[in-house]
Amino acid sequence: GDAITVADLAQKLAMKGGDVVKALFKMGVMATITQSIDHDTAVLITEELGHKAVAAGANDAESELLAHAEEVQGEKQQRPPVVTIMGHVDHGKTSLLDYIRRTKVATGEAGGITQHIGAYHVETPKGVISFLDTPGHAAFTQMRQRGAKLTDIVVLVVAADDGVMPQTAEAIQHAKAAKVPLIVAINKIDKSDADPSRVKSDLLTYEVVAEEFGGDIQMVELSAKTGQGVDDLLDAILLQSEVLDLQAVFEGRATGVVIESALDKGRGPVATVLVQQGQLSKGDYLVCGIQYGRVRALFDENGTQVQVAGPSIPVQILGLSGVPEAGDDFVVVADERLAKDVAQQRDTKRRELRLVASAGNRMEDILAQM
Ligand code: GTP
Ligand code: MG
Repeated sequence: GDAITVADLAQKLAMKGGDVVKALFKMGVMATITQSIDHDTAVLITEELGHKAVAAGANDAESELLAHAEEVQGEKQQRPPVVTIMGHVDHGKTSLLDYIRRTKVATGEAGGITQHIGAYHVETPKGVISFLDTPGHAAFTQMRQRGAKLTDIVVLVVAADDGVMPQTAEAIQHAKAAKVPLIVAINKIDKSDADPSRVKSDLLTYEVVAEEFGGDIQMVELSAKTGQGVDDLLDAILLQSEVLDLQAVFEGRATGVVIESALDKGRGPVATVLVQQGQLSKGDYLVCGIQYGRVRALFDENGTQVQVAGPSIPVQILGLSGVPEAGDDFVVVADERLAKDVAQQRDTKRRELRLVASAGNRMEDILAQM
């Protein structure tokens, strides 16, 4: 039958029979050690005990960390916008960024296809803008979604000679789902077969309506090749940014998010992070997901060492205990002890959750064989 004795269950869970009886009693199930309980009850009690174990492991260091974060206060000031470039493959995302930075990123990439999210900040005469370059390839949809969450503004690149394509539509969905405002960059207008008005009318289908059609979406016609119209795009971004009234605290300990990470042979764990509040400095102790460490060095997007990075500025850091995951938060703390405690507690918790999940699965297996 579809049942298990309390004694057997206790053995499977590596617990005392009496403790399982007690736990069952608390759930309103009266059973002695030799009695059987049904499948659903067994699964329920396993989950209940598992959750308890995890909850018990939480969470002194974590609450100390919270108290710590609340200490960090200060006056909010205007911060630079974080812009994600999205669009269909080959529509010119990297070329556009490249032109803006006046360097040659696209030519240095394997096969000319962007392999990962790159992060850059540029200082225009009118203000600082940070850019995230997301991959255009369909296989990287997930990363693109992640990019949209850190983002204040999405610049949707649409090649005027190719028009609205599947990944153009996908990018529109991501931006809408994340409630991030769009600016459309109609690229490649230098080409003889460019048709910017077709792009605008095609976008109507997706309820992306240009200002000239009575909508509220800024659309800029440009060429990443000649540079025509690129300044208009930067103006449009800064205008949108003003409307959004983006603010952050600039003083105090930094918090932010991991954009990408890797294990470098010579340098150890390397993480590109986006600072969201405060100042990240060389020598800071931080918790980053289940990793911790002391910032040994910071580099900007050109590989130049910097001493500090403030809000909306992406920076590469060295000195973490391991490789964090993209999307992990980081928090600067006062000392190494707290950083280590929080990181280790999180690690333990993650392991326990995994154990509970696999214990649940084992239960299903055991019960299925009965
Ligand atoms: P993925 O990262 O692979 O999705 O591509 P991407 O959107 O970053 O496009 P990329 O910048 O690599 O450009 C694709 C091709 O279009 C390259 O050959 C560029 O030189 C070309 N290109 C980009 N912008 C323009 C433009 O404004 N005019 C012309 N004529 N060619 C352009
Ligand atoms: Mg690219």
